Amino acid sequence: MINSKGNVLVWGPMHASLMQSLEENYSVHKRWEIADIQEWARLHGDSIFAVVTSGVYGADNATLDLMPNLEVITSFGVGYDAVDSAYLAGRGIQLSNTPNVLNNSVAETALALMLCVSRRISQAERFVRAGKWQAAKFPLGNDLHAKVCGIVGLGKIGQTIAKLASAFDMKIAYYRASGPYADVGYSHFSDLQALATVADYLVIIVPGGPETKHLIDRQVLRALGPTSFLINVARGSVVDEAALVTALIEQEIGGAGLDVFEDEPNVPDELLQMDNVVLLPHIGSGTFETRQAMADLVYENLKAYVDNGALVTPVAL
Ligand code: 8YV
Repeated sequence: MINSKGNVLVWGPMHASLMQSLEENYSVHKRWEIADIQEWARLHGDSIFAVVTSGVYGADNATLDLMPNLEVITSFGVGYDAVDSAYLAGRGIQLSNTPNVLNNSVAETALALMLCVSRRISQAERFVRAGKWQAAKFPLGNDLHAKVCGIVGLGKIGQTIAKLASAFDMKIAYYRASGPYADVGYSHFSDLQALATVADYLVIIVPGGPETKHLIDRQVLRALGPTSFLINVARGSVVDEAALVTALIEQEIGGAGLDVFEDEPNVPDELLQMDNVVLLPHIGSGTFETRQAMADLVYENLKAYVDNGALVTPVAL
């Protein structure tokens, strides 16, 4: 018989080694294999003590309501905007995420997008593959060096982006509404439009959720201007995507490099047609090494909770 700590609901397919560790140590229920999750949870929800999910899958309150003995959610990814923090706090459910282990990979993705949009790398490759080189010269690009990298969200990943961009001889500026960080030497802006005005590359790396929804609106994009680029490696929700499409059509900004979208995996048709945007399928942390580290940390969190009631990387709810 499975003891009360035994039943774990896994929300969606996860990293293979994480699935293996979970299946070796717990009684795993796979949400994606359950035809009617509400019906299932009404029958079996009281046996579930832990949910394992990701920053993309999240977990909806209506289903969690049917798990009265749920104690902990361990989530794969640093962002946890796909779960309702206030709801979890209200129920006393603990939450962990996977901070820090992905800082470098996400920062590298931001730099890759900056290089791709500035030097038109994807467009240039399409040009060669289409056999156009023989007939035409490829248009010039833009430098990164000596340009301003404006970072929206100077957390751990933002600081890593700043470090990498500095190595490309970029000037670093950042937005923080509540004032400058005491120990950071980069130029600080408490006004987002003012940062956008000076930025050549505006890099978004703030958490998602209601507080940052559509922080990047038409006004910010207009302030960014026709020779500058928007880079988003945070959450699609931070950018008003309809306004971004309009700004690109109206040539109010120079282009965009996007790893995240408002309605993933759906990307607006207009963006698919544009040569000055680079579109990635949310691969910010998507390397073998980092995804392994994230998977390990999800498992370590659950193990630590079961062994001694304390998560390794708890989210302060
Ligand atoms: C993951 C992410 O791809 O960490 C995050 O917040 O967005 C990514 O690292 C995501 O959590 C789902 O796997």
